[in-house]
Amino acid sequence: MKILVTGGCGYIGSHTIVDLIDNGYEVICVDSNERSNAAALDGIKQITGVEVSHFQVNLCDLEATRKVFEAHPDIDGIIHFAAYKAVGESVEKPLLYYQNNLNSLANVLACIEEFKVKYFIFSSSCSIYGNADELPVTEFTPMKTAESPYAHTKQIGEGIISNFAKIHPQSSFISLRYFNPAGAHPSALLGEASFDKPSNLVPVITDTASGKREKMMVFGTDYNTRDGSCVRDYIYIMDLANAHTKSLQRLQNQKNESNYEVFNVGIGEGVTVLEALNAFEKVTGLKLNYELADRRPGDVEAIYSNYEYAAKALNWEPKGSIEDIMRTAWAWQQNRPEWSFKSGG
Ligand code: WQD
Repeated sequence: MKILVTGGCGYIGSHTIVDLIDNGYEVICVDSNERSNAAALDGIKQITGVEVSHFQVNLCDLEATRKVFEAHPDIDGIIHFAAYKAVGESVEKPLLYYQNNLNSLANVLACIEEFKVKYFIFSSSCSIYGNADELPVTEFTPMKTAESPYAHTKQIGEGIISNFAKIHPQSSFISLRYFNPAGAHPSALLGEASFDKPSNLVPVITDTASGKREKMMVFGTDYNTRDGSCVRDYIYIMDLANAHTKSLQRLQNQKNESNYEVFNVGIGEGVTVLEALNAFEKVTGLKLNYELADRRPGDVEAIYSNYEYAAKALNWEPKGSIEDIMRTAWAWQQNRPEWSFKSGG
């Protein structure tokens, strides 16, 4: 099976390539490397021994994208990660997000049509639920208004795929709605190398512990939660990577109930910000320099998944705990090669 991974040099894409190779798939990578570094593929090679062939292509360029398929007309499936993902930036520059995330998706789907690709997995997000009325969220929890243009591109993306699937019964499609991915490959040869200054909790923690950041803030201490800080569902990156492999296997084995399915990928447990900080301090023995601060605009109080449907349908079970996340994220931070800082993070 030959699988095209778009955004394969990015955080989730690169870890998924490792899991795919471990499970016997041949992988081709496409990435514009505008916000990632092709050297991530060196990390993949060190871990798996496999040199992944890479096309540096911007998927908003349909002709350039078609050429990848002309070079590999036997691609069986696509896992589509390539997208912009900075929530704050999307609020500042909405058109950039609509143009990039939606044009690239439409071009990849056009190639599915032209080159008769059988399987497609889409990188979606729990942010499509907006401020959900009920917790935990299931796949049937109604989508509320998207809180950011980024989240809106994921809502629209799912809608595009759903409509496209209706007229392409020969192909099958899955959207995976990720909760909060975090952690790194256990080898510490691969991890998050964010393009911009990190604003997500775990990279902020590791930056603070390493001294790159003098201190960090805990945003909000008066939420209606166990300790007053926000609750999130942190999913270990290798478990998330494996959900993609399991999704492909479901489609390959024709176990899917329809040609478009969606699954929540989380661990079903809420962890507060203060609990996450404690977990880091416990596994590393380090003290974090943090301050209790006001709420961050746009944050929801709590969100976590019900992932029973994914567990059953995909035969998938998340294994990594918040401690595993912190341990691997810290090992990566200490082992990070030069290139991982050159992509901005
Ligand atoms: C987690 C918690 C912060 C930094 C974002 C996207 C979402 C999804 C996952 C992709 C919150 C708190 C953070 C800090 C803090 N991405 N925090 N101090 O906001 O849940 O979700 O990433 O689809 O769409 O919005 O993740 O890691 O930024 O924050 O206290 O310095 O940590 O307030 O409660 P978030 P996050």
